[in-house]
Amino acid sequence: MKAPQRFPRNVTVFEVGPRDGLQNESRAIELASRLEFIRGLKQAGIQQIEAGAFVRPDRVPQMAASDQVFQELTSSREFWGPQYWALVPNAEGVKRAVAAGAKAIAVFTAASETFNQRNINLSIHESLARIREIVAEARRLKLRTRAYVSTAFGCPYEGRISPRRAIRVCEKLLELGVGQVSIGDTIGVATPKDVDAVVGPLVRDAGPALTAVHFHDTRGTALANTFRALEWGVSTVDASAGGLGGCPFAPGATGNLATEDLVYLLNGLGISTGIDLENLCRTSLRLAQAMGRPLSSRYLQTYAVQCGTAPFVQGQPGHGHSL
Ligand code: HMG
Ligand code: MG
Repeated sequence: MKAPQRFPRNVTVFEVGPRDGLQNESRAIELASRLEFIRGLKQAGIQQIEAGAFVRPDRVPQMAASDQVFQELTSSREFWGPQYWALVPNAEGVKRAVAAGAKAIAVFTAASETFNQRNINLSIHESLARIREIVAEARRLKLRTRAYVSTAFGCPYEGRISPRRAIRVCEKLLELGVGQVSIGDTIGVATPKDVDAVVGPLVRDAGPALTAVHFHDTRGTALANTFRALEWGVSTVDASAGGLGGCPFAPGATGNLATEDLVYLLNGLGISTGIDLENLCRTSLRLAQAMGRPLSSRYLQTYAVQCGTAPFVQGQPGHGHSL
């Protein structure tokens, strides 16, 4: 199927750095630095921010203090404005997120059985049943929802995933009433042809508003895949400041599409995002400083060299759990 080249006029950048990014760091980032990072993202103009995860703290210790992060975001005026999303795996996660003040939740399943078992200890069928209950509860509590489909193109344990399988899981989630489905290339194997095969039919049937894309840049194809998704009319793109990211349960998964690289591309295409790129770069550099390690965004590296802060962005990024 060929993309109709229907670029959107505006794109919503869905920033996942404070969750997908920081969950994969070898050491947990302290609360103050997490909040400082989110403050910077807000000041750069980002409106959708996934700020933490209410998963088992012993399984993902980097997200353990998400309760405190949300309490601060929702009680302190300086953070008001953006929508802050909480990643939740089950009813207990929803309860914790809501108690901390979250108004928007992201649920997750996968297109691969093995990955889903390793990630959340459930079959795909079981996780869809659980999501059905969470969506009903979210409706009752007037929470916004979105759902990720991980390993939509390939799985670290099962290899290639057929487009049919990925599309079926996305369709089931939309039938359950989630506000948006984010198609995840967890281990960064997709190329634009794969985007045509999975994103194309979904956009054709469900419309671009219900479809988001979530590319990891493991093999350097995230920006090319995003361009193809834009051609399909997709107008929500997940990205991570500095190119942070990865999944602790997907060996070899590295960073997300870098937000700076995405915004640079969109600016060049004349697609507006409301994001101040320079401001965003300063935020990512402050985070790199706090973490004491380089970040992988290509745009950020060039920016840092121009600013004379190269030591924090040169060399290879050291992702905690990746191969
Ligand atoms: P489980 O062990 O099957 O859960 O974990 P359980 O219901 O059997 O409960 C066992 C214990 O865990 C109990 O405690 C529960 O209270 C506790 P005990 O009675 O033994 O003392 N528990 C919890 N505690 C805190 N918060 C909770 C919670 N739930 C249970 N929410 C579970 C199942 C899913 C919770 C676990 O496997 C888990 O936390 N997994 C981590 C999953 C994760 O965070 N993965 C990374 C994010 S997904 C991703 O990165 C992909 C994405 O970016 C898209 C892409 O790139 O593809 C989204
Ligand atoms: Mg991810």
